[in-house]
Amino acid sequence: MAGIKSFDDLFLHTLKDVYYAERQILKALPKMAKAAEDPQLREAFMTHRDQTQQHIERLQEVFEALGKRAQGVTCEAINGLIEECEELLEEAPQPSAVRDAGLIASAQAIEHYEIARYGTLAAWAKQTGQKEVTSLLEQTLGEEKETDVLLTKIGVVNGKNRQAAA
Ligand SMILES: [Fe+2]
Ligand SMILES: [Fe+2]
Repeated sequence: MAGIKSFDDLFLHTLKDVYYAERQILKALPKMAKAAEDPQLREAFMTHRDQTQQHIERLQEVFEALGKRAQGVTCEAINGLIEECEELLEEAPQPSAVRDAGLIASAQAIEHYEIARYGTLAAWAKQTGQKEVTSLLEQTLGEEKETDVLLTKIGVVNGKNRQAAA
């Protein structure tokens, strides 16, 4: 975090953090889709993969609006969350409702991380009167929130199916 002296530095650093995170998520989502047993969950992961591609493009627009080069900075938080998901798949190697529940939990942790980051960035951009940047960040924030809600719904159905099977 060296070199963060001004509010602009902090904004840019946080933007680079989430840019890195989105690119890791883009790589993780197809693996999560492949691992999911429930077709609805698989589809939700693939839809969000496409949205994630757009999130990356929006971030590139934000960098451009700020006159900065799009660049990532290693985000240990997202690396840790993705690693936890990979561990789950190693420890539950067979597709099942239980593994799907674990995948949903991992995906929601990732979405919540993104919601935290975009929520902060959008609030900062709004406070400093950057309308275009605020709008780009808020669009993505909305999609992260929708994905979180969808995952909760799929998780509830998954839980009911599991009870029925027990
Ligand atoms: Fe995203
Ligand atoms: Fe997301």
